[in-house]
Amino acid sequence: MKQNRRFDGKTAFVTGAGGGIGRETALAFAREGASVALVDLLEDGTAETLRLIEKDGGRGLAIPADISDAEAVARSFARAILAFGKIDHAVNNAGISQPQAATADIPLDVWARVMRVNVTGLWLCMREELRHMADRGSGSIVNLASLAGLRTLPMSTAYVASKHAVVGVTKNAAVEYAERGIRINAVAPGGVMTPMMDREFIGMDDAQRAAAVAQISALHPMKRRGAATEIADAILFLSSDQASFITGACLSVDGGWAAN
Ligand SMILES: NC(=O)c1ccc[n+]([C@@H]2O[C@H](COP(=O)([O-])OP(=O)(O)OC[C@H]3O[C@@H](n4cnc5c(N)ncnc54)[C@H](O)[C@@H]3O)[C@@H](O)[C@H]2O)c1
Repeated sequence: MKQNRRFDGKTAFVTGAGGGIGRETALAFAREGASVALVDLLEDGTAETLRLIEKDGGRGLAIPADISDAEAVARSFARAILAFGKIDHAVNNAGISQPQAATADIPLDVWARVMRVNVTGLWLCMREELRHMADRGSGSIVNLASLAGLRTLPMSTAYVASKHAVVGVTKNAAVEYAERGIRINAVAPGGVMTPMMDREFIGMDDAQRAAAVAQISALHPMKRRGAATEIADAILFLSSDQASFITGACLSVDGGWAAN
């Protein structure tokens, strides 16, 4: 079967592309013809994603950078433009979770770091993306929210606050830029098998890990966790022309969790 190539001649800027959902998203864009700028704190992670893209005959650019640093974001975006000439699609995926703690027990530095990466960092990226796309009169942006951006997640108030903010930023910006040819949407994954989730299991033995996986799976009506490729599929749909009348939406990709 001929492979579907919805992004031939297009370019994408993907943050957190050094692993997890970001890597699968970058690989999916590249498979469908896009040149992809790979931004991540992890130099090894971006290099590996680039290797996988090039092995498949695709085109990418590894840009190690911290998205919570305004100058680093501006430099990264400028490098991507220099290499590709334009950015058609952006995926603001880089984000961090928090160690579990009751609301009153979250250390100030943990609260501040989660907000700085998940909210301020995402906005810093959007600022560059929106300026560029507004000048061109076209573009699409997909932000990574979470089930935690729509519902509660006990012992994770900083993360919940940051992901609710992502949904708010997405909706507000979508309305502001709708007439300027830019579509802005979010995806809200449930539990997804990525390095972020693996870190939750550190220190557990096999039995404890199996119990934790079963507990997380049980939260989803489909009784399983998601694969990063399933989130990437939704991101590519929202980025594509198939979603040409969709903006300001937050698409749950969560095996039915948010509906429950
Ligand atoms: N895995 C899940 O269950 C899940 C569920 C809902 C939402 N999400 C969201 O999806 C996104 C991706 O999650 P994931 O599970 O793939 O996480 P992950 O930790 O596996 O990957 C995230 C990537 O972002 C990078 N990153 C983190 N902080 C950064 C920074 N300041 N600058 C640049 N890069 C940075 C990391 O190095 C990492 O490579 C996150 O925003 C996360 O909150 C994940």
